[in-house]
Amino acid sequence: MERLQKVIANAGVTSRRKAEDLIKEGRVTVNSIKVTELGTKVTNKDIIKVDGKELLKENKVYYILNKPRGIITSVTDDKKRKTVVDLIPCKERIYPVGRLDYDTTGILLLTNDGEFANILMHPSSEVEKVYIVKVKGIIKGDSINTLKNGIIIDGKKTEKAKIKLRKIDYKTNTSMLMVTIHEGRNHQIKKMFENVGYPVLKLRREREFIFDLKGLKSGEYRPLTPKEVAIVYSLGKNK
Ligand code: URA
Repeated sequence: MERLQKVIANAGVTSRRKAEDLIKEGRVTVNSIKVTELGTKVTNKDIIKVDGKELLKENKVYYILNKPRGIITSVTDDKKRKTVVDLIPCKERIYPVGRLDYDTTGILLLTNDGEFANILMHPSSEVEKVYIVKVKGIIKGDSINTLKNGIIIDGKKTEKAKIKLRKIDYKTNTSMLMVTIHEGRNHQIKKMFENVGYPVLKLRREREFIFDLKGLKSGEYRPLTPKEVAIVYSLGKNK
């Protein structure tokens, strides 16, 4: 179930704001009944018309991308930079599920299925994300423990994290760690490490829920299998 204005906006008719205006102006019908109430919930079985014209129903598509550095996680960019969507040529209007920073690499899922995206991003799903993090400095055990237990970033404590020290390199004065979190706050990993005094030099998302980078070189993508999509949906059913 999705809000009517979101479905209209997602169908590419207009922006969310304008979709709200269309509804208020009485130009939208659901199953031939005029709807003027914002927030009305619809499913993909409902027939939605704007000014008498039915919304196009796109096939649902799902991709996993190994995001390279230097690409923004967005559908469009004001500065005309390349976006993750530009890396996957398809006719459906896909968007990223969550985000990775411009300089972060690794797993990014993209879809045009709002329900699928919501399941993965909803905090109650507690989807695990595993990152390989290279930081400046030789990290100390007490800093790792602080991060494991949670630290305050942007006024809110992070949830417990799993952290494994992978490698210390005295020559380059860097440390490599594997970090598992299930939150998805903005720049979370970078802020966590910066908070304990170790700036992040490199960041790669290696796993998200059941998805890993097997067989995907940087910039490569593949469609998800129906089984993978079903596993995500089954995660939503347990809620
Ligand atoms: N944490 C970050 O700081 N950046 C990302 O891109 C992902 C997680």
